[in-house]
Amino acid sequence: MRIAGLEFPNNLALAPMAGISDPPFRDLCARLGAGLTPGEMVSADIGLWNSKKSRSRLRRWGTRTTQIIQIAGYDPEMLAQAARQAADLGADAIDINLGCPAKKVCRRLAGSALLKDPALVARIFARVVSQAGVPVTAKIRTGWSPELRNGLTIARIAEDEGIAALTVHGRTRACRFAGHAEYDTIRDIKQSVAIPVIANGDIDSAAKARAVLEHTGADGIMIGRAARGQPWIFRDVLAHLKNFPAEKTDLSLFSVRDIILEHLDSLYSFYGESTGVRVSRKHLVWYTQHQRDGRLFRERVMAAETARDQLTLTRRFFEQTYGEALAEPERSWGERSGENDKHQENAQAKKEKEIRGTHGTDGWQESVAECAHRRCPARLS
Ligand SMILES: Cc1cc2nc3c(=O)[nH]c(=O)nc-3n(C[C@H](O)[C@H](O)[C@H](O)COP(=O)(O)O)c2cc1C
Repeated sequence: MRIAGLEFPNNLALAPMAGISDPPFRDLCARLGAGLTPGEMVSADIGLWNSKKSRSRLRRWGTRTTQIIQIAGYDPEMLAQAARQAADLGADAIDINLGCPAKKVCRRLAGSALLKDPALVARIFARVVSQAGVPVTAKIRTGWSPELRNGLTIARIAEDEGIAALTVHGRTRACRFAGHAEYDTIRDIKQSVAIPVIANGDIDSAAKARAVLEHTGADGIMIGRAARGQPWIFRDVLAHLKNFPAEKTDLSLFSVRDIILEHLDSLYSFYGESTGVRVSRKHLVWYTQHQRDGRLFRERVMAAETARDQLTLTRRFFEQTYGEALAEPERSWGERSGENDKHQENAQAKKEKEIRGTHGTDGWQESVAECAHRRCPARLS
């Protein structure tokens, strides 16, 4: 896939997810087939870039990915300055966030709240494009609300002002994460602009990826939540789009174990041991959420305080749960997982309900990435 002179290995993108798609996860997904891996959003207020969180979001890590830095803000000048600064720090492209529904961002008319003000959006796009010095893309929703589904207007403005590509999440700002993503508006946007369009929202399998590509005619697709605990989804989608037979592409238990251990190692290197151990916990929960005996493992691994203990418990989980099957190449992860699907789905629904109970339904930013609530189940630590 090509975006304004930048060449990407394919048209599959990992979604920017604050608190999840950090540099180690992006690097891992890139190794497993994601062609584009934009970073978690940073504020357009460069005065905040010295915080630990912003520094880690701006850091270049690994060699596999083109660095796309995402900025969120409301003021054209601030956004332009942030874009310039990010490019000076080495960003290959800048992505402007017009998709975030969180109150914290929207109160200041940033993120998806900007969709309500197309004139301001035009000024932002023009200013950032003129200052960035690298290609500028944008991530939008289909509109402000179901009544004001103005994604098409915003997309045309984007094209007119020099935005190089658009990602469209198939929900309005008012919908936050409720209901299902709809793809008709994405199809209409694709038909109305000549710049590349990437479709996003609720893509959780290779078959769904193909269906969304076919329905929308989009140039690419972006996967977010479905990559948690299964970064190899990009590999599966690529294989499916190339019509490889499933049995040739399913990962063995052995490979899955190694991918997880590799991910843990890179989290420890990136964050240092103490933070790395904390950050690893949520990933280990996602990795094992559909696995037999996963609950017991999760209880133990949550209590582990050192990298060594986490790695040992993870290795032991695979050995004890799968025993000799681990060494059998024909035993795939897909085949072994899902044995407790029903039970695990109930547990997941319960956890999501708890998160909503703690935070209200107000989007991911407060509930996951920014949460300071010690007992929040989303923190998983
Ligand atoms: C925990 C979490 C954090 C997110 N952080 C960002 C972000 O920093 N920037 C952004 O543009 N979108 C963010 N999103 C939205 C995703 O990029 C994506 O648009 C959304 O999850 C829908 O895609 P999916 O159904 O494949 O998950 C976030 C979503 C989640 C769940």
